[in-house]
Amino acid sequence: MEISAAVDANRAWWDSTVSVHLRSDFYDVEGWLRQGRGPRAHESETLGDVAGLELIHLQCHFGKDTLSWARAGARVTGLDISPQAIDAAADLAERAGLAERADFVCAPVDEAVTALGGRTFDIVYVSLGALSWLPNIDNWARQVAGLLRPGGRIFLHDVHPLSEALADDDLTVIYPWFEEARPIVDTMAGSYADMTATDVLPGEPTYTWNHGMGEIVQALISHGMRLDLLDEHDWTSFQRFPWLIEEGEEKFVTPSDHLRVPLSFTLMATKA
Ligand SMILES: C[S@@+](CC[C@H](N)C(=O)[O-])C[C@H]1O[C@@H](n2cnc3c(N)ncnc32)[C@H](O)[C@@H]1O
Repeated sequence: MEISAAVDANRAWWDSTVSVHLRSDFYDVEGWLRQGRGPRAHESETLGDVAGLELIHLQCHFGKDTLSWARAGARVTGLDISPQAIDAAADLAERAGLAERADFVCAPVDEAVTALGGRTFDIVYVSLGALSWLPNIDNWARQVAGLLRPGGRIFLHDVHPLSEALADDDLTVIYPWFEEARPIVDTMAGSYADMTATDVLPGEPTYTWNHGMGEIVQALISHGMRLDLLDEHDWTSFQRFPWLIEEGEEKFVTPSDHLRVPLSFTLMATKA
């Protein structure tokens, strides 16, 4: 299968997820609007004060994470390949009263620098569930470096590549660790945010690509980024394995009597 056909199929799938995700308990959009929540504590602790900074969120989905940074005082731009997601993000910005400090752009990550017309930012932000949708990590790193001003930083919290390579209910490696041209095909009905939404999401194939940790780090370094932080976590933000225990909001941890493997990771790097 051509990579472009796989990316098109993914775009159509993500378009279909938007209405499902907007009403899901997982995203709890109404609660987020009501409570005025900002970024997650671990993100704010790592990035520090963002007031007055310009931030671009790559793969922003319908903009909830993007707009959380606007609440913290940043001027935000969200970019996503899904037109439905971008429309929903602009609508959410209005509903949250944040439209004046937020804009949203529909484009593939691989074309981000061109789509932004050469604009540069203080922060590139990427949140969970992003890199595996991209066929080529070197292209991604080139865009990240091209979007940053000198001294600008990327903050990434994503699924760990080991977790991407494992089966769903045990610790057997069944998918590639290293990036391969051939995608991993998934025909699961529903989505991570609502497994019951099988009417809207009946199991059309989606296509993902894993990228090893060294490939991710090396891609950034080779595009002029300096690694500041790389933290592998034994927790993640969703029920990745049946044995994980929910410990507070968006935190699923490994119980003490279970073998610990990295489930997510945080990376920060600075453009020289
Ligand atoms: C898991 S979601 C984003 C996660 C975000 N942390 C959230 O929960 O809102 C992944 C997003 O990546 C977008 N996406 C997938 N492939 C893309 C590509 N090639 N370029 C830009 N966006 C892409 C999808 O449309 C989707 O909105």
